[in-house]
Amino acid sequence: MKKITVIGTGYVGLVSGAGISDFGHHVTCADIIESKIRLLKNGEIPIYEPGLHELVDRNVNAGRLSFTTKVDEAIQQADVIFIAVGTPQSDNGEANISAVESVAKSIGKNLNSYKVICTKSTVPIGTGNIICELIRENMVDGGEFDYVSNPEFLREGSAVKDFLWPDRVVIGASSTKAFNIMQDVYRPLYVNEKPILHTNVATAEMIKYAANAFLALKISYINEVANLCEAVGADVHLVAKGMGQDGRISSKFLHPGPGFGGSCFPKDTQAFATLSRKKGVPMNTIDAAITTNNIQKTRMVEKLKNLIGSDFSGKTIGILGLAFKPNTDDVRESSSIEMIQSILDEGGKVKAYDPIANKSMQNIFTDLNYLHSWEEACDGVDAMVIMTEWNEFRGMNLKKLKKVMKTPLVLDTRNILSMDKLSEYGFQFDNVGRKTVL
Ligand code: UDX
Repeated sequence: MKKITVIGTGYVGLVSGAGISDFGHHVTCADIIESKIRLLKNGEIPIYEPGLHELVDRNVNAGRLSFTTKVDEAIQQADVIFIAVGTPQSDNGEANISAVESVAKSIGKNLNSYKVICTKSTVPIGTGNIICELIRENMVDGGEFDYVSNPEFLREGSAVKDFLWPDRVVIGASSTKAFNIMQDVYRPLYVNEKPILHTNVATAEMIKYAANAFLALKISYINEVANLCEAVGADVHLVAKGMGQDGRISSKFLHPGPGFGGSCFPKDTQAFATLSRKKGVPMNTIDAAITTNNIQKTRMVEKLKNLIGSDFSGKTIGILGLAFKPNTDDVRESSSIEMIQSILDEGGKVKAYDPIANKSMQNIFTDLNYLHSWEEACDGVDAMVIMTEWNEFRGMNLKKLKKVMKTPLVLDTRNILSMDKLSEYGFQFDNVGRKTVL
């Protein structure tokens, strides 16, 4: 069993730390934010992620998982150190790696034996070299380490499952010794014959960006197809189905909607595009995916206006779903932000409800009218918009909905309501890329 330290207890760090301890290793999760570590030590989880609480509890109780703010000590005692701190987008579109650099310096200062230093954070291609240099500059003579890039592909809302049952593990290792150690870390996956791809560091860093940007591209593509479907009277769901049945295309990530959001796609596509321009090899496809995504968000606002038949002044709109996708409380880059902002800017009012993300959205819109159920959020409204495909919205009682709304206007940006039922109950509605009753 290896002694592992994971630095950074955000989505990636916490899920990875808990997951690796579940593989049987002794894991210390370290963070400089005392409030986070205090919560974790008290058995609480600072983020909402299905299955994470159980995973953490199980491994803490088994004595394999612990939490500390003593980052230096945690580095000294580890065989393998995972860097999983945040890399937010800076104003110039590049990822801000200052937290990663600071961790690299600490690792250098505390390098008391051979260690594998492994980056899980999504970092710009070439960051591996910067990290190695910073470690070398700060370490005392004779320090020894190997560097590995081991990008994470976990999705919020199913991160635990993605970690424990990944499609593949990418290990960009600078030496065979380091690759073998990392393979040992992931031993249960290796034994179960999950593909473990050995590459060099730059290739591993590239795989992460290329994969995320491709998925974002796929979403923007289907969103544009959806918009054209509206113009020609086609149904985008059947188009996506027909496309997805071609094994070369696959049906995944062909669901049209109000534009992608979250902590990864918007940031990673920007960083990828910025890097490509900097290297003189522009990625026109990714630039287009970003532009299309911005347009899609605005398009949803225009759709709502068309449905209402005027601008938003004096209107009250019920917004159902604030998170950028279901099963998370994360509202970062969520399309609901642009929708809400546009309504407020034009003098409209918003009644908002999300099963778990009301609190997160309060950090962005402090004074919004947040409700505790979809019925309350739709009570007396001029129109209702579904922004996130939570299951409880899929099954909503349309008869009841019609009764509580002032005017039966529905914009379903996730295409989750039955168009037949909406018509049957006399709603006027719109959606993305399907038949519209206006
Ligand atoms: C993504 C990647 O899937 C994951 O591999 C990577 O590690 C991090 O980024 P995440 O941001 O958690 O994960 O969510 P994901 O399920 O990929 O959805 C991202 C956005 O795309 C959401 O706003 C979602 O609503 C949207 N989306 C996704 C669509 O609009 N259509 C789809 O078909 C799929």
